[in-house]
Amino acid sequence: MQSIKLKSGHEIPVLGLGTWQLKGDKCREAVKKAIELGYKHIDTAWIYDNQEEVGKGIKDSKVEREKLFVTSKVWTEHLGYDDVLKQCNETLAQLDLNYLDLYLIHWPNKDINLSETLRAFKKLVQEDKVRSIGISNFNVARVKEAKEKSEIPISINQVEYHAYLNQENLLKTCKENNIALTAYSPLARGEVLEDPILIKISNEVDKKPGQVALRWLIQKGIIVIPKASSEEHIKENMEIFNFELSSRQMNDINNIQVKRRLVNPDFSEFED
Ligand SMILES: NC(=O)c1ccc[n+]([C@@H]2O[C@H](COP(=O)([O-])OP(=O)(O)OC[C@H]3O[C@@H](n4cnc5c(N)ncnc54)[C@H](OP(=O)(O)O)[C@@H]3O)[C@@H](O)[C@H]2O)c1
Repeated sequence: MQSIKLKSGHEIPVLGLGTWQLKGDKCREAVKKAIELGYKHIDTAWIYDNQEEVGKGIKDSKVEREKLFVTSKVWTEHLGYDDVLKQCNETLAQLDLNYLDLYLIHWPNKDINLSETLRAFKKLVQEDKVRSIGISNFNVARVKEAKEKSEIPISINQVEYHAYLNQENLLKTCKENNIALTAYSPLARGEVLEDPILIKISNEVDKKPGQVALRWLIQKGIIVIPKASSEEHIKENMEIFNFELSSRQMNDINNIQVKRRLVNPDFSEFED
């Protein structure tokens, strides 16, 4: 599995399993299956209300904890210093793990002092409960603000990014600040699978449109966390390391003119 070295010094596998809306046994099974098939990276969040099942899936896989990369996120209403510490402890208990590889601020909250949240993140790193810290759903201005305010490196910004939301400006800002970018909803929740340009390229490279959509992202240096529940999809999304898109194919996808934000589309702060 390819990985990217983060500013914290730790490595993140470029492919992870997303788990939003995976619940109960379906979630436990999907996590176990993905790890058995070779996934090393799992993405969850306190608000997904599935951390116990994610933890059980990890245990069921019998793969050593140190070989895995687990991300969780603190919910936007709990960004005060004590709330962050409390929610992280709850997350660790639910997952039945003693550390997280990555802990993210799930969404910015203008009513809570960002420096305070970041101080709590630093404390979690000092206590070995978290290895790397990051942000999620932060636009260009907020990325710069977080970098300035954090006393320890911000390793990741996790944002919506797919062929229908190519946020080049945000990607450039993250790269300039040595912050890796993780694409959530990398398949646009299934929407890009019907795209004529992706279908054309998938025929050229003899792959599925979804595999082309994910390959485009990793070739841009972006980490991807597609959510999949069936074994077929989990497997398909892994088979993106044995082919390459040409610069013409990359540019054809870069130039898709659709701009569609699927998660919280009214969050106008995003218009960079
Ligand atoms: N930080 C944030 O605010 C935030 C927000 C949204 C999402 N996320 C994270 O990002 C992850 C992924 O995003 P997402 O769940 O919104 O959407 P996504 O990964 O773009 O799409 C998931 C959908 O695509 C389907 N799918 C997966 N692989 C497929 C394949 N090979 N062929 C055809 N269909 C396929 C899935 O179906 P099946 O389930 O039937 O396989 C599911 O319906 C989330 O699960 C979550 O971990 C983070």
